[in-house]
Amino acid sequence: MKKLLLSGFTLVSLLSCKDNEAPKTYYTGSATRAILDNMLTRRSIRKYTDQQVSQEQIDTIMKSAIFAPSALNKQPWEIRVIQNPKILAEINQRFLNFAEGKEMQGSAAKYKEPGFSIFHHAPTLIVMAIDKSNPTAKLDAGISLQNILLSAHALNLGTCPLGSLVTALNLPENEDILKLLNIPEGYEVGINIALGYPAENPKAPIRYSEKVKIIK
Ligand SMILES: Cc1cc2nc3c(=O)[nH]c(=O)nc-3n(C[C@H](O)[C@H](O)[C@H](O)COP(=O)(O)O)c2cc1C
Repeated sequence: MKKLLLSGFTLVSLLSCKDNEAPKTYYTGSATRAILDNMLTRRSIRKYTDQQVSQEQIDTIMKSAIFAPSALNKQPWEIRVIQNPKILAEINQRFLNFAEGKEMQGSAAKYKEPGFSIFHHAPTLIVMAIDKSNPTAKLDAGISLQNILLSAHALNLGTCPLGSLVTALNLPENEDILKLLNIPEGYEVGINIALGYPAENPKAPIRYSEKVKIIK
Protein backbone atom coordinates (compact mmCIF):
# COMPACT_ATOMS: atom_id res chain seq x y z
CA MET A 1 0.00 0.00 0.00
CA LYS A 2 1.32 3.41 -1.02
CA LYS A 3 0.17 6.35 1.09
CA LEU A 4 0.20 9.85 -0.30
CA LEU A 5 -0.11 12.92 1.91
CA LEU A 6 -2.06 15.37 -0.27
CA SER A 7 -2.76 18.16 2.21
CA GLY A 8 -2.53 18.84 5.93
CA PHE A 9 -5.28 16.45 6.97
CA THR A 10 -6.19 14.69 3.76
CA LEU A 11 -4.73 11.26 3.43
CA VAL A 12 -5.47 9.45 0.21
CA SER A 13 -4.38 5.83 0.02
CA LEU A 14 -3.61 4.41 -3.35
CA LEU A 15 -3.65 0.67 -3.04
CA SER A 16 -1.82 -1.34 -5.60
CA CYS A 17 -4.86 -3.32 -6.62
CA LYS A 18 -5.90 -6.38 -8.60
CA ASP A 19 -7.16 -6.00 -12.19
CA ASN A 20 -10.86 -6.04 -11.18
CA GLU A 21 -10.48 -3.59 -8.30
CA ALA A 22 -10.33 0.19 -8.34
CA PRO A 23 -7.82 2.04 -6.18
CA LYS A 24 -9.31 2.66 -2.75
CA THR A 25 -9.79 6.31 -1.76
CA TYR A 26 -10.01 7.34 1.90
CA TYR A 27 -11.17 10.73 3.10
CA THR A 28 -9.95 12.12 6.40
CA GLY A 29 -9.79 15.44 8.24
CA SER A 30 -10.90 18.52 6.28
CA ALA A 31 -11.92 16.44 3.24
CA THR A 32 -14.36 14.42 5.37
CA ARG A 33 -15.69 17.61 6.95
CA ALA A 34 -16.20 19.23 3.52
CA ILE A 35 -18.14 16.24 2.20
CA LEU A 36 -20.44 16.19 5.24
CA ASP A 37 -20.84 19.99 5.24
CA ASN A 38 -21.79 19.89 1.56
CA MET A 39 -24.84 17.78 2.47
CA LEU A 40 -25.85 20.01 5.37
CA THR A 41 -25.37 23.38 3.66
CA ARG A 42 -27.10 22.62 0.33
CA ARG A 43 -30.33 24.59 0.05
CA SER A 44 -33.08 24.90 -2.51
CA ILE A 45 -32.34 28.16 -4.31
CA ARG A 46 -35.22 30.26 -5.66
CA LYS A 47 -33.28 33.32 -6.86
CA TYR A 48 -30.54 33.21 -9.50
CA THR A 49 -28.20 35.63 -11.22
CA ASP A 50 -28.21 35.84 -15.02
CA GLN A 51 -24.77 34.21 -15.26
CA GLN A 52 -24.93 30.99 -17.25
CA VAL A 53 -23.44 27.73 -16.01
CA SER A 54 -20.39 26.66 -18.07
CA GLN A 55 -20.02 23.51 -20.13
CA GLU A 56 -17.26 22.35 -17.78
CA GLN A 57 -19.55 22.74 -14.76
CA ILE A 58 -22.36 20.89 -16.57
CA ASP A 59 -19.94 18.07 -17.44
CA THR A 60 -18.91 17.70 -13.79
CA ILE A 61 -22.52 17.71 -12.58
CA MET A 62 -23.69 15.25 -15.25
CA LYS A 63 -20.85 12.88 -14.45
CA SER A 64 -22.04 12.90 -10.82
CA ALA A 65 -25.63 12.35 -12.03
CA ILE A 66 -24.83 9.21 -13.99
CA PHE A 67 -22.53 7.83 -11.29
CA ALA A 68 -25.56 7.47 -9.00
CA PRO A 69 -26.37 3.90 -8.08
CA SER A 70 -29.42 2.33 -9.72
CA ALA A 71 -31.13 -1.02 -9.27
CA LEU A 72 -29.46 -3.63 -11.50
CA ASN A 73 -27.40 -0.70 -12.83
CA LYS A 74 -30.26 -0.03 -15.28
CA GLN A 75 -29.71 3.76 -15.16
CA PRO A 76 -33.40 4.24 -16.05
CA TRP A 77 -33.10 7.97 -16.72
CA GLU A 78 -32.75 10.30 -19.69
CA ILE A 79 -31.35 13.66 -18.65
CA ARG A 80 -31.63 16.87 -20.68
CA VAL A 81 -29.82 20.08 -19.79
CA ILE A 82 -31.66 23.03 -21.31
CA GLN A 83 -30.04 26.44 -21.73
CA ASN A 84 -31.95 27.58 -24.83
CA PRO A 85 -33.95 30.70 -23.77
CA LYS A 86 -36.76 30.03 -26.28
CA ILE A 87 -37.28 26.46 -25.04
CA LEU A 88 -37.11 27.64 -21.41
CA ALA A 89 -39.75 30.30 -22.10
CA GLU A 90 -41.96 27.74 -23.84
CA ILE A 91 -41.70 25.29 -20.92
CA ASN A 92 -42.64 28.08 -18.52
CA GLN A 93 -45.62 28.96 -20.75
CA ARG A 94 -46.76 25.30 -20.79
CA PHE A 95 -46.70 25.35 -17.00
CA LEU A 96 -48.76 28.56 -16.95
CA ASN A 97 -51.30 27.00 -19.35
CA PHE A 98 -51.56 23.97 -17.06
CA ALA A 99 -51.86 26.07 -13.87
CA GLU A 100 -54.50 28.49 -15.26
CA GLY A 101 -57.47 28.57 -12.88
CA LYS A 102 -55.99 25.96 -10.50
CA GLU A 103 -54.97 26.24 -6.85
CA MET A 104 -51.26 25.42 -6.84
CA GLN A 105 -49.06 24.68 -3.83
CA GLY A 106 -45.70 26.06 -2.67
CA SER A 107 -43.87 28.50 -4.93
CA ALA A 108 -46.10 27.43 -7.86
CA ALA A 109 -49.01 29.14 -6.06
CA LYS A 110 -47.58 32.49 -7.24
CA TYR A 111 -48.07 31.66 -10.92
CA LYS A 112 -50.45 34.59 -11.45
CA GLU A 113 -47.75 37.12 -10.54
CA PRO A 114 -46.30 38.99 -13.52
CA GLY A 115 -42.97 37.57 -14.71
CA PHE A 116 -43.50 34.30 -12.83
CA SER A 117 -41.02 31.52 -13.63
CA ILE A 118 -41.71 27.97 -12.45
CA PHE A 119 -37.94 27.37 -12.48
CA HIS A 120 -37.25 30.57 -10.53
CA HIS A 121 -35.61 32.28 -13.55
CA ALA A 122 -32.67 29.87 -13.38
CA PRO A 123 -30.65 30.07 -16.63
CA THR A 124 -30.42 26.26 -16.85
CA LEU A 125 -33.20 23.72 -16.44
CA ILE A 126 -32.52 20.01 -16.12
CA VAL A 127 -35.30 17.64 -17.12
CA MET A 128 -34.89 14.09 -15.85
CA ALA A 129 -37.17 11.58 -17.58
CA ILE A 130 -37.58 8.04 -16.28
CA ASP A 131 -38.36 4.66 -17.83
CA LYS A 132 -42.06 4.03 -17.10
CA SER A 133 -41.57 0.25 -17.22
CA ASN A 134 -38.87 0.22 -14.53
CA PRO A 135 -40.33 -0.28 -11.02
CA THR A 136 -37.39 1.40 -9.27
CA ALA A 137 -36.95 4.27 -11.74
CA LYS A 138 -38.33 6.93 -9.39
CA LEU A 139 -36.03 5.86 -6.60
CA ASP A 140 -33.03 5.65 -8.94
CA ALA A 141 -33.84 9.10 -10.35
CA GLY A 142 -34.11 10.48 -6.82
CA ILE A 143 -30.58 9.36 -6.07
CA SER A 144 -29.30 10.86 -9.32
CA LEU A 145 -31.19 14.06 -8.45
CA GLN A 146 -29.36 14.25 -5.14
CA ASN A 147 -26.01 13.74 -6.88
CA ILE A 148 -26.89 16.69 -9.13
CA LEU A 149 -27.87 18.87 -6.17
CA LEU A 150 -24.74 18.03 -4.18
CA SER A 151 -22.23 18.26 -7.02
CA ALA A 152 -23.68 21.63 -8.08
CA HIS A 153 -23.45 22.86 -4.48
CA ALA A 154 -19.83 21.67 -4.33
CA LEU A 155 -19.19 23.94 -7.35
CA ASN A 156 -20.89 26.85 -5.51
CA LEU A 157 -23.88 26.67 -7.85
CA GLY A 158 -27.50 26.72 -6.73
CA THR A 159 -30.26 24.23 -7.53
CA CYS A 160 -33.91 23.63 -6.81
CA PRO A 161 -35.81 20.39 -7.48
CA LEU A 162 -39.05 21.17 -9.32
CA GLY A 163 -41.76 18.63 -8.71
CA SER A 164 -44.41 21.20 -9.65
CA LEU A 165 -43.43 21.04 -13.33
CA VAL A 166 -43.69 17.24 -13.61
CA THR A 167 -47.45 16.88 -14.16
CA ALA A 168 -47.53 19.74 -16.65
CA LEU A 169 -44.74 18.28 -18.81
CA ASN A 170 -46.36 14.82 -18.83
CA LEU A 171 -49.69 16.08 -20.20
CA PRO A 172 -50.56 14.65 -23.65
CA GLU A 173 -50.73 18.19 -25.08
CA ASN A 174 -47.09 18.74 -24.10
CA GLU A 175 -45.77 15.61 -25.84
CA ASP A 176 -44.21 17.87 -28.47
CA ILE A 177 -41.90 19.31 -25.79
CA LEU A 178 -40.71 15.82 -24.81
CA LYS A 179 -40.17 15.05 -28.50
CA LEU A 180 -38.21 18.28 -28.91
CA LEU A 181 -36.04 17.19 -25.98
CA ASN A 182 -35.54 13.81 -27.61
CA ILE A 183 -37.08 11.89 -24.69
CA PRO A 184 -37.61 8.31 -25.91
CA GLU A 185 -40.99 6.54 -26.07
CA GLY A 186 -41.82 4.81 -22.80
CA TYR A 187 -40.27 7.58 -20.71
CA GLU A 188 -42.00 10.29 -18.69
CA VAL A 189 -40.69 13.29 -16.78
CA GLY A 190 -39.69 12.25 -13.25
CA ILE A 191 -38.19 15.45 -11.86
CA ASN A 192 -36.83 18.80 -13.03
CA ILE A 193 -34.05 20.86 -11.53
CA ALA A 194 -33.34 24.60 -11.69
CA LEU A 195 -29.60 25.30 -11.91
CA GLY A 196 -27.59 28.52 -11.83
CA TYR A 197 -25.55 30.91 -9.71
CA PRO A 198 -27.40 31.58 -6.44
CA ALA A 199 -28.65 35.11 -5.70
CA GLU A 200 -29.87 34.24 -2.21
CA ASN A 201 -28.58 32.36 0.81
CA PRO A 202 -31.61 30.94 2.63
CA LYS A 203 -31.52 29.31 6.05
CA ALA A 204 -32.34 25.60 6.30
CA PRO A 205 -36.05 24.88 6.82
CA ILE A 206 -36.80 22.92 10.00
CA ARG A 207 -35.80 19.23 10.14
CA TYR A 208 -37.56 16.71 12.40
CA SER A 209 -34.97 14.69 14.29
CA GLU A 210 -37.69 12.66 16.05
CA LYS A 211 -38.37 10.95 12.74
CA VAL A 212 -35.16 9.00 13.38
CA LYS A 213 -35.12 6.32 16.07
CA ILE A 214 -32.16 4.19 17.00
CA ILE A 215 -33.18 0.69 18.00
CA LYS A 216 -30.51 -1.29 19.80
C1 LIG B 1 -39.10 15.92 -5.14
C2 LIG B 1 -39.01 17.39 -4.78
C3 LIG B 1 -39.82 18.29 -5.43
C4 LIG B 1 -39.72 19.66 -5.12
N1 LIG B 1 -40.46 20.56 -5.84
C5 LIG B 1 -40.27 21.88 -5.66
C6 LIG B 1 -40.92 22.82 -6.50
O1 LIG B 1 -41.67 22.48 -7.39
N2 LIG B 1 -40.65 24.15 -6.32
C7 LIG B 1 -39.79 24.58 -5.34
O2 LIG B 1 -39.57 25.78 -5.23
N3 LIG B 1 -39.17 23.70 -4.50
C8 LIG B 1 -39.37 22.37 -4.65
N4 LIG B 1 -38.70 21.46 -3.86
C9 LIG B 1 -37.78 21.94 -2.81
C10 LIG B 1 -38.32 21.70 -1.40
O3 LIG B 1 -39.31 22.64 -1.11
C11 LIG B 1 -37.11 21.78 -0.43
O4 LIG B 1 -36.21 20.75 -0.73
C12 LIG B 1 -37.52 21.66 1.03
O5 LIG B 1 -38.33 22.74 1.41
C13 LIG B 1 -36.29 21.64 1.96
O6 LIG B 1 -35.48 22.76 1.75
P1 LIG B 1 -33.95 22.63 1.31
O7 LIG B 1 -33.93 21.95 -0.04
O8 LIG B 1 -33.43 24.03 1.22
O9 LIG B 1 -33.24 21.81 2.33
C14 LIG B 1 -38.81 20.10 -4.13
C15 LIG B 1 -38.02 19.16 -3.46
C16 LIG B 1 -38.09 17.83 -3.79
C17 LIG B 1 -37.19 16.84 -3.08
